[in-house]
Amino acid sequence: MFPQEKIDKLRTKYEAALKGGGQARIEKQHQGGKLTARERIAAFLDEGSFEEVDALAVNPNPGDQIPGDGVVTGFGRVEGRPVALFAQDFTVVGGSLSLTQARKICKVMDMAMKVGCPCIGMNDSGGARIQEGVNSLAGYAEIFLRNTMASGVIPQISLIMGPCAGGAVYSPAITDFITMVRNTSYMFVTGPEVIKAVTHEDVTKEELGGASAHGYKSGVAHFVVPSDLAALAHTRELLSFLPSNNLGEAPRRAPLMDMALENPDLDQIVPDDPSKPYDMRLLVKGIVDDGHFFEVMEGYAGNLVVGFARLEGRSVGIVANQPANLAGVLDISASEKGARFVRFCDAFNIPLVVFEDVPGFLPGVNQEHHGLIKNGAKLLYAFCEATVPKLTVITRKAYGGAYIVMASKHIRTDFNFAYPTAEIAVMGAEGAANVLYIKEIQKAADPVAKRAEIIAKYNEDFANPYVAAGLGYVDEVILPRETRKKLVRALALLENKRESMPPKKHGNIPL
Ligand code: HXC
Repeated sequence: MFPQEKIDKLRTKYEAALKGGGQARIEKQHQGGKLTARERIAAFLDEGSFEEVDALAVNPNPGDQIPGDGVVTGFGRVEGRPVALFAQDFTVVGGSLSLTQARKICKVMDMAMKVGCPCIGMNDSGGARIQEGVNSLAGYAEIFLRNTMASGVIPQISLIMGPCAGGAVYSPAITDFITMVRNTSYMFVTGPEVIKAVTHEDVTKEELGGASAHGYKSGVAHFVVPSDLAALAHTRELLSFLPSNNLGEAPRRAPLMDMALENPDLDQIVPDDPSKPYDMRLLVKGIVDDGHFFEVMEGYAGNLVVGFARLEGRSVGIVANQPANLAGVLDISASEKGARFVRFCDAFNIPLVVFEDVPGFLPGVNQEHHGLIKNGAKLLYAFCEATVPKLTVITRKAYGGAYIVMASKHIRTDFNFAYPTAEIAVMGAEGAANVLYIKEIQKAADPVAKRAEIIAKYNEDFANPYVAAGLGYVDEVILPRETRKKLVRALALLENKRESMPPKKHGNIPL
């Protein structure tokens, strides 16, 4: 029998750890619309699955010895699958990062790598613990190194649920996904005061680095959610699309409703008139299981839509041009957004399904001078190097370099389908008439009629899927209603696809 005083001492120590920074600070946290670290973990994990480690870790500095030292760390389960996590506790020294705190975080990251499970970070911190000086910088560096080592091995997800400033932002930035809570979170490298002193710009924290700034302007955040609880539920769902590590497959789910493989309603979505916009999401939702599309970076570069869905229970990554936004043109932002998503899916064995309706790359001095060449090349590179199953559906326009980039046959895409409305050519009829036939048009007795005649002939000859199908660049011309069936069958065939890259240290993607 254990001596009672030993049991009491153990209990007292853990009870102290559970209190964090004390009731007053917990209340302040709640008043600010935020949950505490422990409340977040409880809401996130499968009930009762949390196993904490290092609850009793304390700072070696005698003045600063609060059990846990500002972060709660451990392991648990999400839909039965293991995850590692850490949640900074703002009630303890503002959640600021000490070396002790960093070592706790590194410990769970190391275990996540050892066992191959995702690592989730809940960030809510005043940054480097000022009184620790270079030791807290060393702590950050240890975390950044591990984020980099874990990249492409285990999914890493960062939830920003309070302040995240200075160099601290670089840990989330290296991870795969960033979710920000509206009104209570912010991220910036230098804050409003420093900016005021250096550039004389006046800006609030929210304007500078709030969820809207990063969800809609910078593209730093992948998801913007209204509350802590929404962030936690959303992350659980995100995990459901992902494998636990790069050697595994995403869990396969039975669709909620038994969707028919053919859907005649889809024949009505893509207008034959190439100048008419339509919402590509409607097509995607009409094809995937339960019409459910989990969009990523919804508020940023809306001309390219990316996200996760399922086809007969298999997780897929969707990459789709959006004709309803900038006619679906590819620009710098869309190319970067697409490239990162494609690389994530490739790293984690998630097949790619591409829906293509793209008039080309966005013309403009601004785009060229800001590096459209190297940024567009990122998307091209990402699709070229991807070895997961790749399927493409050309719904309408597929012009020029953008045709090649959007997972064309030539860059080892496994199945390329096209609708009868597809137009696959170097450029549209108007542009071609201006380049190839301008003299003929000018010389004609009726230039307007001649131009119309040339355009009609060009469209007949080139703006269709049949030239590409004749050459084997399109495997099959299909009706929209058949899309689900074709994709489902192709994915089943590709289940054991093996393709690899030549041996190398790593490629040199144009950054
Ligand atoms: C030590 C800190 C701290 C920090 C906050 N606290 N940040 N202690 N180091 N970095 C403490 C406060 O002193 C306070 O303690 C408690 O946490 C709560 O903070 P408050 O200021 O009362 O909260 P609030 O008003 O909500 O303001 C939050 C805040 C502010 C905006 C984050 O605390 C702040 O500006 N902190 C400093 C931020 C900063 O400059 N960090 C360094 C960034 S540089 P008491 O005991 O009074 O309750 C950096 C470099 C990283 O991080 C480099 C990595 C490569």
